[in-house]
Amino acid sequence: MEDVLILAIESSCDETAASVVKNGRTVLSNVISSQIALHTLYGGVVPEIASRKHIEKINQVITQALRDASVTLSDITAIGVTYGPGLVGALLVGVAEAKAIAYARHLPLIGVHHIEGHVSANYIEHPDLEPPFLCLIVSGGHTHLVIVKDYGEFEILGRTRDDAAGEAFDKVARAIGLGYPGGPKVDALAREGNPRAIEFPRGKLSDCPYDFSFSGVKSAVLNYLNGAKMKGEEVNRADIAASFQKSVVDVLVDHTMLAARDFSMDRIAIAGGVASNGALREAMEKACRRRGFRFYRPSPILCTDNAAMIGAAAYYEYRKGTRHGWDLNAVPNLKLGER
Ligand code: KG4
Ligand code: ZN
Repeated sequence: MEDVLILAIESSCDETAASVVKNGRTVLSNVISSQIALHTLYGGVVPEIASRKHIEKINQVITQALRDASVTLSDITAIGVTYGPGLVGALLVGVAEAKAIAYARHLPLIGVHHIEGHVSANYIEHPDLEPPFLCLIVSGGHTHLVIVKDYGEFEILGRTRDDAAGEAFDKVARAIGLGYPGGPKVDALAREGNPRAIEFPRGKLSDCPYDFSFSGVKSAVLNYLNGAKMKGEEVNRADIAASFQKSVVDVLVDHTMLAARDFSMDRIAIAGGVASNGALREAMEKACRRRGFRFYRPSPILCTDNAAMIGAAAYYEYRKGTRHGWDLNAVPNLKLGER
């Protein structure tokens, strides 16, 4: 069979990214232009600034991705692009660019669900991984526990009732003065702290054991900080970071193991920005080893937003015959499993 080369574009939040992926699993290039430094000034992503920066960067990033892969547009089979969920203005830049290239070069256009992309990051470094498997998706906007029944087909077992896991990391980071982006900073500081120093609550929901809730632990951290402030006591920020992180990681691992048992799944994957968290990777690995499960996780660079994962997802959509028309639009609140 002839090789399928996907040029993939991702611009849903604050990374402008392009990648060339061969047959869904081999990454020929992976260019990521991060806007983190810019948004750090404001303590979070400013949507209008993100859109403008995507417009400035997108052509350079695509040119670089083609150059790094040593290919030209004539070698490309199809264009894959994230069309949701995400920031509407940011998504529109990638979607418009993808449509323009596909139209000009007479190439098939494939809109990709951002979260399907995160899951597909696992295919890149694990050639043996094929559905079905259980996947915990933990990003800045999403927390889902799903069975990946087939490529691009998900059965949602659990989801967050309030904050996403990454959002909780970002909010706690802000509260303890670490700034944006919070997740990696909490991860780093937690290495110097004692995870058993403070007992923060583990969010459990009696009606659905696979659902998540992180607002309780977030409030507990804020209360702890306020209490210390009122008493004029110094706090140990590393202990807070480590204890908060442990509370979140314990719940993520517990719920995943429970679902694995209940649904007889013995292959477990993690995906999304929070999947790059050191403590989560270690705890999940250990829990899987103890039960004899195979554990899959992308390298940290493929966990956070990138276009290689979009190229992997687009390949399997291409194989299934998914094609989008010139009316493809950005869908900021696109649901998982929706097209
Ligand atoms: O998947 P992602 O790059 O973007 C979204 O689709 O949301 O995830 C970003 C989220 C942010 O909330 C960020 O703080 C969190 O992932 N994150 C982490 C780590 N690296 C990124 N959270 C915990 N530990 C990390 N090492
Ligand atoms: Zn993402």
